[in-house]
Amino acid sequence: MTEAFAGESPNRASAETETKAGARSPAALERRTFAIISHPDAGKTTLTEKLLFSAGAVHEAGEVRARGDRRRARSDWMQIEQQRGISVTSSVMTFERGNILFNLLDTPGHQDFSEDTYRTLTAVDSAIMVIDAAKGIEAQTRKLFEVCRLRNIPIVTFINKVDREGRTPFELLDEIAEMLQLDVSPQNWPTGMGGLFHGLYDLRRDRLLTADGEGRFRWTGVAGLDDPKLDDLLPADAAASLREDGGLALAAYPQFDLDAFRAGDLTPVFFGSALKLFGVDPLLDGLAEHAPPPQAQPARPAPVEPDEARVTGFIFKVQANMDPNHRDRIAFMRICSGTLKRGMKLNNSRVGKAIAIHNPISFFARDRELAEAARPGDIIGIPNHGTLRVGDTLTEKGDLAFTGLPDFAPEILRRVRLDDPLKVKQMRRGLGDLAEEGVIRLFKPVIGSQWIVGVIGELQLDVLATRLEQEYGVKLGFESSPYEVARWVRSDDPAKLKRLVEANRDRIAEDQDQALVLLMRNAWEHGRFAEEWPGITFAAVRERL
Ligand code: G4P
Repeated sequence: MTEAFAGESPNRASAETETKAGARSPAALERRTFAIISHPDAGKTTLTEKLLFSAGAVHEAGEVRARGDRRRARSDWMQIEQQRGISVTSSVMTFERGNILFNLLDTPGHQDFSEDTYRTLTAVDSAIMVIDAAKGIEAQTRKLFEVCRLRNIPIVTFINKVDREGRTPFELLDEIAEMLQLDVSPQNWPTGMGGLFHGLYDLRRDRLLTADGEGRFRWTGVAGLDDPKLDDLLPADAAASLREDGGLALAAYPQFDLDAFRAGDLTPVFFGSALKLFGVDPLLDGLAEHAPPPQAQPARPAPVEPDEARVTGFIFKVQANMDPNHRDRIAFMRICSGTLKRGMKLNNSRVGKAIAIHNPISFFARDRELAEAARPGDIIGIPNHGTLRVGDTLTEKGDLAFTGLPDFAPEILRRVRLDDPLKVKQMRRGLGDLAEEGVIRLFKPVIGSQWIVGVIGELQLDVLATRLEQEYGVKLGFESSPYEVARWVRSDDPAKLKRLVEANRDRIAEDQDQALVLLMRNAWEHGRFAEEWPGITFAAVRERL
């Protein structure tokens, strides 16, 4: 049996399958809403491009990056990410393949923006973990994995760059299993790496993927690792080591188990090279086959099942000025249940007011278009002027609040210094807007007028300064603050909380949602407060209500 597909032109969707919204009924498609997590440089951007290319959503590999670059060139504040070679923004890319509609949520790779990444991960049902074959598990991979584990997000692993010299597949698999305490189930096996890389053997379906000199891929079915046909397809030593290593892999690692995967206890592992498009299709097939459809979302008073009829969703990200010509803000909403129709009115639980969704946007590949309808698992953009915030719940009816979207206490606190005192108003507006967007945390001391800005990583301060200058015309500097620690304070005993506030008025502040925060000089002082005020919680994480 020989199956072939045109690897150089994987636009199998082609003419009859438009990728545009509305061209065919998206209602009929299953959803897979996922993110890619990785350490910077492991190949997330390259894999994203190749996934879109492979699904026929863009016509040239590299188009995403090229268009991204053009867009960035237009958008001044994004220069900062260009200079640093990092991706500050998260965005959504939707593409179709077969009977599946994939929603890929991009996450910033840099750890200074980990909060943004965390929030984005609340909106996905599965994730691809990309690992560089030469490096194995790296610091950021591990952190992001832990976030996925907290939320029981099933992980598909892609070990990338097998076209380069790397560590052996066994070493890599054992490292994942040990460091992440996760069962690994290899789905395919590389025949050699680097210069000796010849192809991928599909361990589940017994077939070999090879490429010819012109980059055309070919699957060849065999009867198993012992099939002599392999000797015709591979050099003798490559066939011999595939037989030995592949056989060992089948014996040594667990078989794929859907329940264990969905519970987050096992990861199917795909080897490949994003750059060479090698193994990208099998990865997509694996995702289509195994990754879960939209799942129930945690909420009060009860979790929301995707098959509930009423429309519900939550905002996990707000992004300003995606189009610099239109100074707009886009709130990204994950639809959790129901079918959202354009023009529908939804209630914002935080403020108890209805908002009409006149112009919901869907994101096909990198194009925005008006969405006529959106279904559970879909992400839509809602243009607004600051009415929607990260963590907001939107619902057609009923009292509802999605939970699990936390704010983290900042690790860096800074006072802001304004060079031009006439710009106080603009500065306050800018800081307020960006705090609502989730770019920074803003603390307004109850005594005095000097606001304090809190961030997780230094790069957020750069983004803040650049955006304030470019979008609000305000030049801002940062000064050290007398405080290093900020904690939300709360208590079941309101009288006690009041006493704490009264006794420490000079260091009590309100955050952008008017929640009370105690500012402390250092960890030691934090410990002392905790000791002296039993019954008061000094929280490093605040769940949005
Ligand atoms: P990131 O988004 O995870 O940070 O990684 P990105 O895709 O930007 O890839 C980082 C580098 O690794 C890039 O090289 C990219 O070409 C390379 N790369 C990605 N996948 C593969 C692969 O399968 N094989 C090999 N050999 N290289 C791969 P660069 O030189 O830093 O950038 P560029 O000039 O190629 O864009």
